[in-house]
Amino acid sequence: MADTVMVVDDDLDILSILTFTFESRGYRVRKATSGEEALQVVRKFTPDVFVLDVTLPGIDGMELCRELRAQARTRHVPVLFLTGRDQPEMVVQGFEAGGDDYVVKPFNMQELLARVENLLRRKQEAARPAAAREGQVVAVTGARGGTGRTTLAVNLALALTRLWTGEVVLVDTNLEFGRAAVLLDLPDPREVTALLQEQGEDLERDYVEETYLSPHPSGLHFLAAPLSPADVETIGQAEAERMLHLLRPAYQAIVLDLPPSIREPYRTLLRLADQIVVVVNPDILTLVATQSLLQSLTMLEVPNEIVQIVLNDHPRVFNSPSQEEVAKFLGLPIAGVIPADAANVPAALNSGRPPVLQPEETPFVEAVVRMAYYLATVMRR
Ligand SMILES: Nc1ncnc2c1ncn2[C@@H]1O[C@H](COP(=O)(O)OP(=O)(O)OP(=O)(O)O)[C@@H](O)[C@H]1O
Ligand SMILES: [Mg+2]
Repeated sequence: MADTVMVVDDDLDILSILTFTFESRGYRVRKATSGEEALQVVRKFTPDVFVLDVTLPGIDGMELCRELRAQARTRHVPVLFLTGRDQPEMVVQGFEAGGDDYVVKPFNMQELLARVENLLRRKQEAARPAAAREGQVVAVTGARGGTGRTTLAVNLALALTRLWTGEVVLVDTNLEFGRAAVLLDLPDPREVTALLQEQGEDLERDYVEETYLSPHPSGLHFLAAPLSPADVETIGQAEAERMLHLLRPAYQAIVLDLPPSIREPYRTLLRLADQIVVVVNPDILTLVATQSLLQSLTMLEVPNEIVQIVLNDHPRVFNSPSQEEVAKFLGLPIAGVIPADAANVPAALNSGRPPVLQPEETPFVEAVVRMAYYLATVMRR
């Protein structure tokens, strides 16, 4: 049965936009325009998640949340607050009142959906035994080198970390030449080969983290490609399976930075991925190569629904194909467009501070964050 979102807001425009958005995603919606009305409704009905405006006439969102937390029926129902940008102190108060998450108005719908999905997923997970938890694998690949796969993998992983703090692992699976650690300014990172020597099963997350992963100050966890070419040779299909087997139960998302290859062990990683981000640039050579990659993915029985074409719109020159032309050429919709940012993106590479971690919300950062939230909502529940 579809989950029901209960939206409480006195702004009728917001109420109808939210209703439309949630319903078009298959949710059912209950509406209330005041705290009092919401309390009336929950006497007879328990939704799966609440979306509450903080400022309501009469009983405000905070008070309403405290009231919901006091009642047995609604105690465990997640609450997401909508707060104004000018009310930073509300965030703390919201958590104190028992809220689980918040979104600042004017909000990005994709972010709101991602956060609501996340709360519902966490609620379902809490109800299930820990062993049943399965992290989602996001494979970032492309048909050619230099298309921006590492840039996207790193920044997407950091954007997902905003949503799932401590729950995201980035694995540099460009085993031969991958040096994603440089982008994250991690000079001495732990390598995937050490994890693969682990013999145990059902490992505790803390153990995996402390023993095998490198912490990044953002809350992201990182696993590096081998530094020695001899070690690269030891990683085949079985090792790829084993790696995901060890990481999946412990984390919400595992992001892979893959090379442009469909040989083993990359083939296995692509086969096991829940989402495949195919990075393309707006040039004919990349598009032709991408056609072959898409054919290979079909051959590997990867369903089209999990293939997300991301147009990294760089470099764009006077005769670059348009977004529509790219989609038409590949026969698939474009899931996201990342704008070129020649001022910040290459500079971030040198400074070890990826754009998503910098204070400016540039169009590049906005696009990456939107893409991350989109992935978070389409990942299998
Ligand atoms: N949107 C963008 N705007 C500006 N520069 C970009 C953008 N995306 C990537 N770049 C730059 O393009 C170069 C290649 O990017 P990146 O290293 O991420 O590609 P890659 O596909 O991982 O390459 P490799 O084959 O070396 O692994 C880098 O210098 C990066 O800073
Ligand atoms: Mg790379």
